[in-house]
Amino acid sequence: MMLKIIAGKFPLLLFYTLIPLAIQQDIRSLRISTIPNGQFSCINTTCLPYSTIIVSKILYCQTNCLANIQCQAAHFHRITHQCQMFSYFTWSSASMVPDMNSITLVVSDDTRVPSIWIPNWIYNGDGETGPCATNYDLVHPTGWNYDGPITQVQYGVSNANQNMMTPGPSDRGKCHFYGFNSTSATTMWQIVDMTTLIDPARINNQIVRFNLSAWLGGYARDEDATGISLTFLTQANQTVGNTTTLGPVSPAGRNNVTSLVYRQSSGQVPIGARLFKLLVTVTRAAGSTNDGDVDNIALRFYC
Ligand SMILES: *[C@@H]1O[C@H](CO)[C@@H](O)[C@H](O)[C@H]1NC(C)=O
Ligand SMILES: *[C@@H]1O[C@H](CO)[C@@H](O)[C@H](O)[C@H]1NC(C)=O
Ligand SMILES: *[C@@H]1O[C@H](CO)[C@@H](O)[C@H](O)[C@H]1NC(C)=O
Ligand SMILES: *[C@@H]1O[C@H](CO)[C@@H](O)[C@H](O)[C@H]1NC(C)=O
Ligand SMILES: *[C@@H]1O[C@H](CO)[C@@H](O)[C@H](O)[C@H]1NC(C)=O
Ligand SMILES: *[C@@H]1O[C@H](CO)[C@@H](O)[C@H](O)[C@H]1NC(C)=O
Repeated sequence: MMLKIIAGKFPLLLFYTLIPLAIQQDIRSLRISTIPNGQFSCINTTCLPYSTIIVSKILYCQTNCLANIQCQAAHFHRITHQCQMFSYFTWSSASMVPDMNSITLVVSDDTRVPSIWIPNWIYNGDGETGPCATNYDLVHPTGWNYDGPITQVQYGVSNANQNMMTPGPSDRGKCHFYGFNSTSATTMWQIVDMTTLIDPARINNQIVRFNLSAWLGGYARDEDATGISLTFLTQANQTVGNTTTLGPVSPAGRNNVTSLVYRQSSGQVPIGARLFKLLVTVTRAAGSTNDGDVDNIALRFYC
């Protein structure tokens, strides 16, 4: 089949939309090109939308398309709010038809994030953003709320237990988190609005799933330990659904070896959820320092 761009009749205007991620200073962004007031037409049936959904705003048409690997282009209709998703699109074979009520969206291949909206919803989950302690010093984790002296510290600082050779993630980077000198427990947390990118209607249709993972650990036989909890909140900040936990990892959970061990859990985002709260708790049981450690905290969403 042959499709052509009707260049004279319809000036092809391209706008690259940077979808801001309201997740603190995260520099990641998704790119999609937008053709206002236009709709592409096709001759054969391969151009029929493979899926049509109703969304409340154009952003959700964009993010739903980006979240589906087969979606190469989409139409958003301003009046009906229909979001039609197409699996076949190339610039060389597109025929654009003017339509004041349509907006065509085309995914840029280099910026696509398959099956998920963004790779990790936890800002600085790996401790690599901002300064980290190179000594036994207090350095608050960048981008996290915190209570107590929980510290972002370099691997190799002896009081913080972990170094480049201790068992743990291969992509550990330079830094991790550590309980430092807290006398009991110290915590850090993030509360994030999921609806900046995830359509609330998808959540309420129970098709959005999450995958939470982290590396948790501590020092030798020391019972100091780190645990993580994930809770979902409604728009009114009320807890909704189940709480998901990782750890705390006891010495038995790491064979009494100074190390970080991988923990993972997945589940469904509950109806009514609009925000999540990710809480890290490092608890001191013995000794003069709080020897719970954590690194590479990741939270992904899937459709
Ligand atoms: C429809 O067009 C696509 C793209 O040009 C082509 O690959 C496919 O074979 C066509 N299908 C039919 C039934 O003509
Ligand atoms: C922990 O260290 C900080 C910074 O060095 C210090 O201000 C604080 O008093 C210490 N707290 C305890 C309980 O030792
Ligand atoms: C969760 O992500 C991990 C990688 O971080 C992967 O190994 C695992 O299969 C994922 N689980 C689900 C249920 O998607
Ligand atoms: C929910 O909590 C956040 C801070 O955690 C606050 O900014 C927001 O105003 C609260 N919303 C409501 C409806 O209470
Ligand atoms: C770990 O240490 C405890 C004592 O603190 C001991 O009872 C246990 O057998 C040890 N486990 C392993 C796997 O070495
Ligand atoms: C919450 O946990 C219960 C009991 O394990 C389970 O039946 C239910 O499906 C969970 N809810 C969600 C939204 O995952």
